[in-house]
Formats: sequence, structure tokens, C-alpha cells
Amino acid sequence: MRQHVDLLITHAQQLCTIPPHAGGPQRGHALGDLGLIEDGALAIQDGLVRAVGPTDSIIAAYSGEDVIDASGRLVTPGLVDPHTHLVWAGDRAEEFERRIKGVTYQQIMAEGGGINRTVQATRQASLDELVTSGLQRLDLALQHGTTTVEIKTGYGLSTAEEIKMLSAIALLDAEHPIRIIPTFLGAHAVPPEFAGRSDAYVDLIIKEMLPAAAAWKAEHWPGVMFCDVFCEEGAFTLEQTRRILEAALQAGLKLKIHVDEFVALGGTRLGVELGVTSLDHLDVTPDEEIALLGASQTVAVALPTTPFGLGSSHYPPVHKLLDAGAILALATDCNPGPAWTENLQFVLALATRYHRLTQAQALVACTLNAAWALALGNQVGSLEPGRAADVIIWRTGDYRELGYHFGINLVEQVIIAGRPVYTTPD
Ligand code: NIG
Ligand code: FE
Repeated sequence: MRQHVDLLITHAQQLCTIPPHAGGPQRGHALGDLGLIEDGALAIQDGLVRAVGPTDSIIAAYSGEDVIDASGRLVTPGLVDPHTHLVWAGDRAEEFERRIKGVTYQQIMAEGGGINRTVQATRQASLDELVTSGLQRLDLALQHGTTTVEIKTGYGLSTAEEIKMLSAIALLDAEHPIRIIPTFLGAHAVPPEFAGRSDAYVDLIIKEMLPAAAAWKAEHWPGVMFCDVFCEEGAFTLEQTRRILEAALQAGLKLKIHVDEFVALGGTRLGVELGVTSLDHLDVTPDEEIALLGASQTVAVALPTTPFGLGSSHYPPVHKLLDAGAILALATDCNPGPAWTENLQFVLALATRYHRLTQAQALVACTLNAAWALALGNQVGSLEPGRAADVIIWRTGDYRELGYHFGINLVEQVIIAGRPVYTTPD
């Protein structure tokens, strides 16, 4: 007797399971193990992968309430985007025009523009406006293959405005099929009312904002939630970063840090010491700290859209990270400043060229390892039995077309928790 399941996906030309290594992420140069099955099939029940294997053996054991024939198609786990600032109001088109003409991101930040410009617009926006624009961006992410996305606050920078951003993120989670993980980033920039008094702002974060975020979590968010800090010259010092993260840990949040984007302040060493879940950017990390990161359980998140968006030719030393044995993930960094893209396929195109990752390495960095950057590695990012049935059916049969064929959308169909949620029109 064949077992009856909710959904079968059969005859995939290539099915990539993206297998965990020793139950965890794929480390160092072991990155790129796709677990590729030719003529592969998946059995899905109750939103989870029930079984995966060659089509012959799956259809011998299972019948499906629904069946999708994926002949000629590549099938992979849904993409996971572990670093975005996807909720904001306004835009910075004018700053982009100035940057094209040679003004730097840091000059604009020092003038009170950049992040603080978006803070001004976001404070003026209603919750509804934030949700409406957030839904449009999530639609774009989904259409391009993202099924899990992290979203940071950090454009509110007062207790009430940061809670407004968390509320927007929770409403997006309720209204959109994408899985969402919230991150409290009260330490994104020093807001104008605290200019020149950054320690006083850090005190406010620790005494008022973090407790409010923790109370919000207790009431509204049973799942994983992070706290992040922009540890950078002109943003928060190493000591301030340590104070905030130690308080966040006490408040029950998991940790991440934006480190070494422009200037190395020692944030990578601190992050490894604190055992943070991920360290992100890593554009100018010194070799000794790369070695520490490579020997740790912390995920290194490279964001190639940031140097690309800034028109810089300096990309993070991803091969040094792999040489050191690091767990590498990729993300969009979707934000209204240097990196406005919702599209992880574009990140694959950049990562293959500028990080010289193979298509297979880049794909694992955008699925299994990205899930570990969100402490969700046991739930999403792989098509092993028992994981979420978040699946992409691609308009190609060959994984090597990912990143290679760029500037267009290769997604044919997106399935989240076993439910088809998007099909690209013909
Ligand atoms: O990750 N570096 C800090 N935060 C963002 C930029 C956000 C912005 O410019 O609005 C980043 O690149
Ligand atoms: Fe960021």
C-alpha cells in the first residue's frame, strides 16, 4: 500500500536537497554539497518534507493528493535571506545621485543623511504605510525565490518608533506567506536628538528600548528574535557594542553584529567571544580575526550588494573565510541606502563573480548556511525529511544557470510549508 501524502513533486531533472553536514551547516571548503538527485522527487505532508529520493522509489512508496510534474526543472529549497532592513519609508534617490558623483556614504552619514534620513521618513510614516510598502517588497522577494527573511528595525531609534517597526514586522508576518525573523537594531545610528551624546543614547537603549523590545517579544513573538548593532566608526564603538549585546542576551535575544564594513574596530573578535549567531559584512576584517571566526560556530554573512551598491571594487575576503573553515552565508542587506534589492538571485550573480564562489557554493550559502545564520538550520534551508517543505521550482533544469543567467527571474514556482504561494506568469 502506498502512503497518501498532500503533495508530490516528481521527475525533477535536478533536485538539490542541500544536506546538512554532521547535522549542521557546510563549513569551509566543504561548502557546495548539493545532494543532487537526478530525476528526483519529494513527498510533502503537513507542510514538511516526508521523503526525498529518485522519482521511481518515491512514487513506489507514496501517492499524492496533488502532483507537480517538475520534468526539465531544477528543484531546490527556498532561498533564505538572513540580513535585511526591508521595512522603511521614503527613499534616498537623491543621495544615490550624489554618490554617483563621488560623495561617499560616510560623508553623507556625517552630514546627518544616510540612515538618519530614512529615520526621519520612517518616523513620519504610519504603521499602515510601513506595512503596505513592506508587503510590496516581500512580494518581490518571494517572486525571486526567498521563502525566509530576517528584517531589522533601526529606522525608528526611539522606544516608541522601534516598537512601531517591530509591530510592522509582526503584521507583515501575519499577512505574508514568507517566514519572517525580527531583529531589534536600535543601535543602527545615533539619532539626531542624541548627536554628540552617543553614550547617553546607548544608556537609553539598555535601560528603556531593550526592555521594551523584550516585553514586546514576550507578548507578540514566540519565535526566535535577534538584537544587532552597527559596530562602526561614526555609529557604535566596540565598548558600546559589548554593553548593548550583553544586555540583549540578558533580555533573551539572540545576537548578531554588523562588523568591519568600513573600519575594523575589533567587532569580529568580540562577536566570537560572545558566541553571536552571525557576523555580517566582514569587508575589512583582519586576518587574525578571520582565523578566530573560522574556528567558531558563528556564521559569516557576506553582503556583496553593499560594495556593489557603493560602486566599490573591494569585496569581502570570502576565500580567506573558507580557508579558515568559516560557515559562509549570503544575504541581500536590502535597504534604502547602498543595497536596494529584494532579489537573492542577484546576490548569486554577484557572489559567483566577485567572491568567486561556484554556483553550488553560492546556493548552499543562500539556503542551509543562511538558515544557520538565523538559528533556523534545523528547520529550513534543506530538503531533508522533517524540514519545512519550502521549495523552489526553477525555469531551468541545471543549477549551474543560477548566477550565470542574471538580471532576469529564473523562478517558476514557490512553495512554502507545502503550499504553492507563487507562480511566475508565462
Ligand atoms: O547593512 N551598515 C548599516 N546598515 C545598512 C545600511 C543601511 C542604510 O544605509 O540605510 C547596511 O549596509
Ligand atoms: Fe545591514
